[in-house]
This record gives sequence, C-alpha cells and structure tokens, in this order.
Amino acid sequence: MISINKGQTKKLMSDQFIVEHDHQVIQALVRDLCTSASKSRGPQECKNIFLQIIEKLEEHFGAEEEAMHLHEYPDTAAHSAAHRAILKLFREGRENLVNSNGKLSLAVIERGEEILARHVHKFDVGLTHFLRDKEPA
Ligand SMILES: [Fe+2]
Ligand SMILES: [Fe+2]
Repeated sequence: MISINKGQTKKLMSDQFIVEHDHQVIQALVRDLCTSASKSRGPQECKNIFLQIIEKLEEHFGAEEEAMHLHEYPDTAAHSAAHRAILKLFREGRENLVNSNGKLSLAVIERGEEILARHVHKFDVGLTHFLRDKEPA
C-alpha cells in the first residue's frame, strides 16, 4: 500500500487528467490533419497542424515522463524510449516538410497516426491505469 499525502494526491489526479486530456487533444489534431489532407485544403494548413502536433507531443511526453518519474512507474525506461522514437519520426517528417516546400505526404500522416494509436494502446493505457489505481479510495 502506497501512502500519499494530500499534495501528492492532487498532483496524481492532475497527472492522470493531463495524460487523458492530452490524448484527446492530440487525437483531435491528428484527425484534423487527416481531414485536411484528404480534403486537400492546402499544404499550409496541413503543415500548421503537423507542427502543432509535434509541439503538443513534446509537451505531452514531457508531462508523462515527469509523472512516471515522480510516481516511480516501473515501465518508465521503455515508455520513454518509445516517446523518443515517435518524436524522431515526427521531427524527420518536419525536416521533409522543409525539403519538399511544405508539402506533407499522406504516407507520413498515416504512419504518424498509426504509431500514435499503437503507442497509446501499448504504453499509455497502462500508465493511465497505474495513475488511476494509485488514487486513494
Ligand atoms: Fe500519451
Ligand atoms: Fe506515452
């Protein structure tokens, strides 16, 4: 049994909230990106959304990693490594954007969407449950 004080409880609940809320925001951005791409609303709009996703991912992964360290989450190393791999993929996509005059390929979008969905399923669900389970009854 882990004993946590009131301050830690508050932090724990906000960590869980941040993780879940961020997932919704990121998912919405990815959906937006896919819609923009499929409707051909123009490369600038896709590029803006793609850059927003990278920014949000950097912020979100940082928050998750902080929560994992704070609560001594047992899968921290593997989870953090997965974050680095995702960021690498998205940053490469950003470099390609520069090299292709801002045109985002549908393959990059689909790959990004797939890798994020797999990450949530494989790593984030477990972390969310871990944070929730630590909540005092
Ligand atoms: Fe996440
Ligand atoms: Fe994660």
